Amino acid sequence: MNKRPLLFAGSSHVKLAQSVARALHISLGQMFLSQFPDGETHVQILEEVRGRDVFILQSMAGSPNHYLFELLIIADAVKRGSARSITAVIPYLGYCRQDRKDKPGVPITAKLVADVLSAAGITHLITCDLHADQVEGFFTITVDHLHCRNLLCETLKTMVKEPYIVVAPDIGSIKIGEKIAKLLNTELVVIKKERLSDCEVRGVLIGDVRGLNVFMIDDLCSTGATLVAAASLCKQEGCKKVLAAVTHGLFAQDAIQRIESSKLDSLLITDTVAAEYAPSLSIQSISVAPLLAAAISRSLP
Ligand code: R5P
Repeated sequence: MNKRPLLFAGSSHVKLAQSVARALHISLGQMFLSQFPDGETHVQILEEVRGRDVFILQSMAGSPNHYLFELLIIADAVKRGSARSITAVIPYLGYCRQDRKDKPGVPITAKLVADVLSAAGITHLITCDLHADQVEGFFTITVDHLHCRNLLCETLKTMVKEPYIVVAPDIGSIKIGEKIAKLLNTELVVIKKERLSDCEVRGVLIGDVRGLNVFMIDDLCSTGATLVAAASLCKQEGCKKVLAAVTHGLFAQDAIQRIESSKLDSLLITDTVAAEYAPSLSIQSISVAPLLAAAISRSLP
């Protein structure tokens, strides 16, 4: 029996799946993925999966509903082919920001997603920088939660030689900010953020950034409103350069234009989400492919 792992790519991020496959010295698994005329997704696995450890890479940004359901359908097909294990490699796990009942009548989508992944037969999850660590607890399957902070910090160190301070652009990013400040041996300053609308936030800086370079860290950038407002505030308060790093560059709506015309000097992201914008001088991307490939290798028997 063929015991080599099989890696399939959902349609969300084929480029990243190819890089991971290269790093593992394997080819991507063959499958036929299409849509019926009525819009339903159809998949046919063209490999022998019986008794094999199968990995499916799918990110959940851009069209999260479509990509989530496509992943479930691929997993179902693999399950019915009697794979030994099915690992979802989801570099960006969407729906995680709705992780508590913070007002009446709202769902907890992070838990719902955890449940449907298991129901589809997925036995293991590999993911990067969850919105909150505790989301891992929603899963009954094993979760490899990979952190990209070392990757981001190492790149940052090559970009700034002068002293800098870490800024958490909202209260939710204090924890990651603390970890980064420790890694970089520097101090942490916090912004108390208030969201006025989807694309508009305002904040108050708690701490001093005058005369220093600022390094902002967050798990994701969606509309860019958080980073843009935080960068303006830090510049108003007399900082020098503002560099930001986020793991997941979702860049919803006109986020790229908002960032390009902001006070941010540079933005570092990873490729957990497929880039759908032209390369730009102020936005640099580093790949998580080696991190994912290492996690896949470690999980093999
Ligand atoms: C919030 O809790 C997150 O960590 C991000 O700060 C936020 O989701 C970013 O969204 P946007 O780019 O739309 O401000």
